[in-house]
Amino acid sequence: MAEIIDGRKVAAAINERTAAEAARLAALGVSPGLAVVLVGDDPASQTYVTMKERDAAALGIASFDHRLPADTEQGQLEALVDSLNADPAVHGILVQLPLPRHLDAEPVIDRISPGKDADGFGVSSLGRLVRGLPGLRSCTPAGVMELLRAYDVPIEGARAVVVGRSTMVGKPMALLLLEADATVMVCHSRTRDLADVCREADILVSAVGRPRMVRREWVKPGAVVVDVGTTRLDGKLVGDVAFEEVAEVASKITPVPGGVGPMTRAMLMANTVAAARKAVR
Ligand code: GUN
Repeated sequence: MAEIIDGRKVAAAINERTAAEAARLAALGVSPGLAVVLVGDDPASQTYVTMKERDAAALGIASFDHRLPADTEQGQLEALVDSLNADPAVHGILVQLPLPRHLDAEPVIDRISPGKDADGFGVSSLGRLVRGLPGLRSCTPAGVMELLRAYDVPIEGARAVVVGRSTMVGKPMALLLLEADATVMVCHSRTRDLADVCREADILVSAVGRPRMVRREWVKPGAVVVDVGTTRLDGKLVGDVAFEEVAEVASKITPVPGGVGPMTRAMLMANTVAAARKAVR
């Protein structure tokens, strides 16, 4: 039976460090601040945004809440980003995605100053990751790396398989694993013999959002399985991994909920404080 990777516990430890660093910076006159921008009234996004603001408050990070109507125009949103870029009280900026359909997310994301890109989604942050330069890393993949390290999972030389090639998770996940010297394969909807490829993995990360897709037969005995997928099914949050059966063969596994989710939020706060640290003179 696999050891269960407790994301809540690891996130709490990271949050403790983040809160201590936030207090230290505040004493130096730089009180870390995170601006959260939500356009429209998608209920899931509202929940996420509210949770982020609650996390910030608990850690001594100021949050600046910008809830804009669904019919906000591109120019208005970009003007808000410009003003947040210029605001010295704001160290991290997050524009909740997805945006309403009439808005183009990419120019908005790329307008965020690289030093304030708390999500790590901008071309500069992603380019720095590709180059191996320091910068703000995407929160979910960074959180997965922290989980692997907290549970002493050997990464160097390991075969890592990432299922999903999104810009938010799959691609940066693959790059972070590569940076840690794993041998990485990225799979997606066109991958042939997906189960066979997954069975090669020492570390299997699934981030596609297809409930219980990863079955016991997909997993090499002793592999570490990280489930990034979350789908709401009959009011319950379910992952990409058929947890009970996969836990019988994996050596370590993340649950949903309580695995990667809390880490994403913790890394967002850590990024905000890291961005604020740069503002101390
Ligand atoms: N929508 C779903 N996940 C995320 C995230 O991590 N950041 C932002 N900005 N939007 C999201």
